[in-house]
Amino acid sequence: MIPLRLPRPLFLVLAMLFGTGSPASAALSVAGLRCEGLRDAPHVDTPEPRFSWQLDSDARGVRQAACQLRITEVDAAGRALGSPVESARIQSDETQWVSLPGFTARPRTTYSWQVRVWDNQGNASDWSEARTFGTGLLGAKWPADWIGDGRTLELFKTAPARHFRHAFKLERKPVRARLYLSALGLVEPWLNGQPVTEDRFVPGWPDYRHRVFYVAYDVTHLLEAGENAWGVILGDGWYSGTMLPLHQYGPEARFSAFLDLTDADGRVTTLTTGKDWRWTEDGPITMNSIYHGETYDARRARAGWSTPAGSDWNWREVGARPVRRVYQTYTARLSPPVRRIEQLKPVSVKEVEPGVFQYDLGQNMVGWARLRVRARSGQEIKLRFAEMLDADGRIYTANLRAAQATARYVAGGEGLEEWEPRFTYFGFRYVELSGVDKPLEDAVEGVVVHTDLPRAGTFECSDPWLNRLYQNTLWGQKGNFLEIPTDCPQRDERLGWTGDAQIFAPTALYNMDAGTFYRQWLFAVRDSVRDGPDGGFADTAPNTGHGHGSAGWAEAGVIVPWVSWLHTGDRRILVESMPSIQHCIELMASQSPDGIRRSPPAWGDWLAPGFDLFKAPPSYELIATAYFAHGADLAARIADTIDRPELAARNRALREKVKAAFQREYIAGDGRIAGDVQTSYLLALAFDLAPADLRDKVIDHLVRNFAEKDNHLATGFLGTPLINPVLTSVGRADLAYTVLQQKSYPGWLYSVKNGATTIWERWDSWTPEGGFNKDGMNSFNHYAYGSVVGWFYDTIAGLQPLPEAPGWKRFRIAPIPGGGLTSAAATLRTPHGVAASSWKIEADTMRLSVRIPANTRAEVVLPAADPAGIVLDGAPLASHPMAKGLQAAAGGTRVTLPSGTYELEFKAPAN
Ligand code: BGC
Repeated sequence: MIPLRLPRPLFLVLAMLFGTGSPASAALSVAGLRCEGLRDAPHVDTPEPRFSWQLDSDARGVRQAACQLRITEVDAAGRALGSPVESARIQSDETQWVSLPGFTARPRTTYSWQVRVWDNQGNASDWSEARTFGTGLLGAKWPADWIGDGRTLELFKTAPARHFRHAFKLERKPVRARLYLSALGLVEPWLNGQPVTEDRFVPGWPDYRHRVFYVAYDVTHLLEAGENAWGVILGDGWYSGTMLPLHQYGPEARFSAFLDLTDADGRVTTLTTGKDWRWTEDGPITMNSIYHGETYDARRARAGWSTPAGSDWNWREVGARPVRRVYQTYTARLSPPVRRIEQLKPVSVKEVEPGVFQYDLGQNMVGWARLRVRARSGQEIKLRFAEMLDADGRIYTANLRAAQATARYVAGGEGLEEWEPRFTYFGFRYVELSGVDKPLEDAVEGVVVHTDLPRAGTFECSDPWLNRLYQNTLWGQKGNFLEIPTDCPQRDERLGWTGDAQIFAPTALYNMDAGTFYRQWLFAVRDSVRDGPDGGFADTAPNTGHGHGSAGWAEAGVIVPWVSWLHTGDRRILVESMPSIQHCIELMASQSPDGIRRSPPAWGDWLAPGFDLFKAPPSYELIATAYFAHGADLAARIADTIDRPELAARNRALREKVKAAFQREYIAGDGRIAGDVQTSYLLALAFDLAPADLRDKVIDHLVRNFAEKDNHLATGFLGTPLINPVLTSVGRADLAYTVLQQKSYPGWLYSVKNGATTIWERWDSWTPEGGFNKDGMNSFNHYAYGSVVGWFYDTIAGLQPLPEAPGWKRFRIAPIPGGGLTSAAATLRTPHGVAASSWKIEADTMRLSVRIPANTRAEVVLPAADPAGIVLDGAPLASHPMAKGLQAAAGGTRVTLPSGTYELEFKAPAN
């Protein structure tokens, strides 16, 4: 095929034809370049990196016909350091996770890559922009020693952050300089008086018992010929900080780093951390702790500490104990890092007592406050953080439990001073400032901090209550996607509870492009299997010793890989997970000789309203059996997907056995299920455990259960996420809307009615009658119940991924209006580009606009009973050249459309 370039005026003519449904083409270009799922990939640790891109075309029916890839090793300025490796023209419509045949990356190198494509209409793109990626160790040994201060921190005692430095001389400025860094604790790297990065909480939180993370930065621009110096600020972080005692991995934070310096001839010199480094604790951060906060004494700061000149601090030799290599497993981070993302200005400030100022940021958020002051040298300014106010209008900190959540700044006394902490974070809406007589106008601003994942979805509808619930969920995700998926961001907990994570993952993957985030976290999930006495997935990952194998928690190890793959199409996440999945499934099988999973009880339907902890029906055994069946089912599908038929057969057989046991043990002849609560029926229907001939009766019991609660929910962590999907799948989306839109207790909008700006941990975390929930465990930023937002995308707007074509290569658009909504709109940045579904009902007409990215196809299911009455581009859908496979289907009319934007019009369903 000869690539065809169309003259420009012809493009315009073709573009004008889009609306008529002709299969026109337009300028073809490539966008959204990613390497290993990342826009910036500085330390790829696979010898055959995979590349993804999008066809940037709005034309209808565009598909990729072929592609070509090119990779070149480059210096820091992008100049080639070798000859390019170029693929042949590959005949394929694949644009995701494609590797260049014959290319094997070398370790510790920088490459640039480009792609060009041909489409099915004879157009060729230009070569794309060149994107760089760096490589990690690729199996090579970590060449540097680990250094620390050699002291042992006491349990429960906070400590200052330590500074480390080393000066060195360079004959020439390198053409490429890459800094590699790993730590037990958190680091902030500096070079010649400049911070190397804006990333925070570097290099993250792995399960330190099994691996360390490392990162790499290009630092060429920070080096000069002659004298240079590098430095590192080391905080305790999650490694040796004063978190729950179980979390303390080791008493002494450490780090290890090396600098690869490449000269113009391609020669590489490596500098490493070692005995010749010096350390001090004379720096300004006199206390650092994730939970308790940070203290900064500006009088101690010295700008030159990481320059060749150094500082007058008492610099000491590193490590009283011999410096040694600590770890064997070095894992390059896969996820983007935590960064400062946005800033919030206070909506009000009040002097609540003389000299105490309370700022309201108007939004429960996570991060810290940026402080601006003019003060005397030595004047101590204190910032305290809280999510709520108590009955007297003062900050409510009881729910933070042992976390002191306090930042202190001791002023240097010269001019305007500005400060933000580094090694701590807080969950808060209110900031209490004391220690200044009169704060500056802009003394406090909220700095929102989280893992820097691209936003994927947006949603809006005609019901402002649902819009607020959506926003509250998004804020919950921002606040709890800080390095790992946490339960909460404020109290002395903030752990990777696996149950919360699996419940929320299907929603999270709509809100943000979270594939790499989960793939990285799954290292900790799988590492936890090695710790358990019985070897199941742990209830927290990284495992902090809070239990193993609990139903609905442990299955995160199966569910999260599955939903991540569904959204991203990254098969590797399944391949990596399969061995531990199978291990855990076999463990459950051994606990279930007759198919009923009998293991020690755990959380159950956690926080179901009206019950004491651990007391809510249905029984733990019922839940564990249902979840085992579900886990085995997904494990079978995963095995199929990665071509492991023997495991698929084994898991399928297990599932059948467990399903039979569930029916035998828990489902009565009249369809009643043990416990007779909403969750009993939801589990059976969601995981397809009811016998076909009893299914209608089971549904009736579920509906009766809702009716008995005046159509309110009565579910905890495990039942709640199933309500809307199950009711929809049994044809009762109307009831799902009713339950969702309840403003009275218990329900999703109850917290919204009471002023929530995030999702609360409990349905009654605060009530007007009773105030704060009396239980010690009460967070105002727990995303678990926000799991309903997945339904906003996949049912209200109707955007659904399909397991037959993961990663949105083919998908469904099946909106179901209801709840009195007159409009709804969602957009989603899929791996292929933006997909969108937006509908409006006016009088008795429904208009649906859809956008289907280039190189994809969508099966559109319209809530229109009569296919003949559907209009596309002003003509009957049935005769439209783009519409394929038009047929009546459950829920309306089905049609398949290729890429492009379309507006459909038909008689509105009853709403
Ligand atoms: C956490 C939960 C978690 C639970 C286990 C709590 O302390 O905050 O979200 O899943 O423990 O049941």
